[in-house]
Amino acid sequence: MTYFDEVTEAAEFLRVRLGGLSPRVGIVLGSGLGAAAEAVEGAVTVPYREIPHFPQSTVEGHPGRIVAGRLGGAAVAVMQGRVHFYEGYTPLEVTFPMRVLGTLGVRAVVLTNAAGGIAEGYRVGQLVLLADHINMMGWNPLNGPNEARFGFGPGAGLRFFDMTEAYSKALRRLAHEAAAEEGFTLGEGVYLATPGPSFETPAEIRAFRALGATLVGMSTVPETLVARHMGMEVLGLSCVTNLAAGLGAAKLSHEEVNETGRQVEQRLASLLRRLAAKMAAQVEAEA
Ligand code: HPA
Repeated sequence: MTYFDEVTEAAEFLRVRLGGLSPRVGIVLGSGLGAAAEAVEGAVTVPYREIPHFPQSTVEGHPGRIVAGRLGGAAVAVMQGRVHFYEGYTPLEVTFPMRVLGTLGVRAVVLTNAAGGIAEGYRVGQLVLLADHINMMGWNPLNGPNEARFGFGPGAGLRFFDMTEAYSKALRRLAHEAAAEEGFTLGEGVYLATPGPSFETPAEIRAFRALGATLVGMSTVPETLVARHMGMEVLGLSCVTNLAAGLGAAKLSHEEVNETGRQVEQRLASLLRRLAAKMAAQVEAEA
């Protein structure tokens, strides 16, 4: 069975499980940021292990299920937990869920993550929109034969595709609106992705800062690449769970990352509820 066929089978499985619901908005919840899934109304919950060919999360803080239903009135598919390259998954496996969401009909995704803050002035617990990224994973999930059937709409499914606005300006505007309505502001930053799983050395953080990065993490970039290849709009949202290595007093730990996530996840959930409604309206307007 080809990768394309596996994705199609997984998407068909979900289509049946979701009944009449066809989500146009997808949300991926990163480490310790799962609360938004609990806010989904009329939820249909599908554990990843039940979906054919779907990769399984092995990391604490990543439950591993799709929660589909209504968030702020909009039909959404929320991925509670993702899989990472450092777990031993291949680039194709890491991005399998994004291919499935696109095939299911999702046209705009919010990719959330836990990140280390590199820029001066970032506070732990702050939410930052991604304005751009730097891929330091050492690979690209689009390496290999181009599968044009994954694209929908003009300019999608191409071998060579544009990344000048990887993170949609229009969606960022909606996110700023939603945050203002919730009474806080969102920064914008540049996310640099490493393969992980070790945190960075202080020298690496100084190097990344010199390169223009303001956030560092171990996910999101492969998903953005695949989403853009398919023609989906992407909004990236980092939670600064810790100051990057060498910038704070404490040693870095996964516990700290999850603990900060837990403190922020309710605020994130409220933001995502407002945002989902706005995004769905925009996607419908474009369709
Ligand atoms: N570095 C890399 N990934 C991370 C960090 C970090 O400091 N915090 C949360 N994810």
